[in-house]
Amino acid sequence: MNEFKVVFNGKTEISVKEGTNLLEAERAAGLEPNAFCGGQGKCKKCKVKIIRGTQASEELACRVTITEDMEVETLRRAGAYKILMESASRNVEVKPGIPALPEQKEAMENCALAAFDIGTTTIAAYLLNAYDGEILAVGSKLNPQSQYAADVISRCNYELERGKGHLGKIVRGTMNGLLKHLTQKVSIKIEDIYGISVAANTAMHHLFLGLSPKSLVLAPYLPAMVKEHTFLAKDYDIHIHPEGILRVLPNIGSFVGADTSACLLALEFDKLEELTLMIDIGTNGEIVLGNKDRILACSTAAGPAFEGAKIECGMRGADGAIDHVSWENGQLKYTVINEKEPIGICGSGLIDAVAVMLQCGLLEPSGYLKHSPYYISDKVYLSQKDIRELQLAKSAIAAGIDILCKKSGADYKDIDKVLIAGAFGNYMSSESACDIGLIPLVLRKKITVVGNAAGEGAKLSILNKEEFNRAAKIAKKVKFMELALAAEFQDVFVEHMEFIKTEL
Ligand code: FES
Repeated sequence: MNEFKVVFNGKTEISVKEGTNLLEAERAAGLEPNAFCGGQGKCKKCKVKIIRGTQASEELACRVTITEDMEVETLRRAGAYKILMESASRNVEVKPGIPALPEQKEAMENCALAAFDIGTTTIAAYLLNAYDGEILAVGSKLNPQSQYAADVISRCNYELERGKGHLGKIVRGTMNGLLKHLTQKVSIKIEDIYGISVAANTAMHHLFLGLSPKSLVLAPYLPAMVKEHTFLAKDYDIHIHPEGILRVLPNIGSFVGADTSACLLALEFDKLEELTLMIDIGTNGEIVLGNKDRILACSTAAGPAFEGAKIECGMRGADGAIDHVSWENGQLKYTVINEKEPIGICGSGLIDAVAVMLQCGLLEPSGYLKHSPYYISDKVYLSQKDIRELQLAKSAIAAGIDILCKKSGADYKDIDKVLIAGAFGNYMSSESACDIGLIPLVLRKKITVVGNAAGEGAKLSILNKEEFNRAAKIAKKVKFMELALAAEFQDVFVEHMEFIKTEL
């Protein structure tokens, strides 16, 4: 079979067999392309410019089969991503309860622990001192699975159809890479790490552990593993101390995963007196309502609209993304991440833009966009289809909140506080989120942003074994509601499709 040479951006060269898909070639060249739809030709995020002699054409890499030498320019690619590491933290006594850890203070001071939050889009890692729990170093990476599909369902399907363990392997590889990088940063050996903990949503949890995600994509969408577990890290290809352990936090149900258990631990839901609503908006939206007496949770397929997928000029929060939009002196103003040329719009910019357009009358409460496409900058616009995608995503979250309230017999006004967890919630304007009806307007003044609470819960779980057990107790207490099976979901979902009109 013939081999052909593909040169990306004039510098990265790779030889591939005739018939190789161009998107696969990009991945093989280590370019981590955007492929939100997993190569189905739907998301249009994998666009490249192919140069043939004096001719150039824009094509979708996933639709191109290589049959000749090629020169390719990758388009609309973002640089550094914003990854959230911080969170509200709480102190615990350092009692890891790991048998292999030395007992004397002097020896323990040279030992480390690590905590991971494996998100659909990003992986965050924390290296901690095993003696006093001090954070020695933090690091993060884009989840390498993102180049295969953006949302959890597409990713599970990719794994089932073509992955065969590949997605788990690349995540574990990235985790080992992060551990290596962090230990080098503080001049310790990777073998000095005696334990790691993992918080992840259900799909990421299954893929990481090498479990089949089949049960997650078929009704009634049950996880293959719910309970918390402690394993030997080496059995899962994590190269720390030979007797180092791996603590995996428990899932709750369906797509409410171990990341939510970690958030509930960090926020001490088992001690809360006040009725508290926690929302973690990502590629999936997890919603929890309750206090120490009763906790209800659900997840909504918000879809990856907030991550920029399915939005024509959408992108993740990275260099060049319009991240905030406002209305000043009769004009639309925007800010761009790292003050670069705008090349797209990320979720926080999208929510702001829609809130402003509603207030100015450019957009009707029904979602009808008077001038489509509407240009925010020279190149970045919103189309009618984009607005519909956002309506679907915001309605899914709003319906989830509504149904949890109804099931717990509470009104919105009975909610004492709203905690917004996760990266997207950290960057979005909660004012705009209320203005478009993503979060009930009456809760506007009760919102607190808590940062990466899942990462915080993972840290607590490795620093103190009792905290890990506590996470398991909290997770058991949560009553999970499968919205897809709730009779009223469709009606409530449709009710929330309309925007509300607030004043400028
Ligand atoms: S259109 Fe090519 S990956 Fe989505």
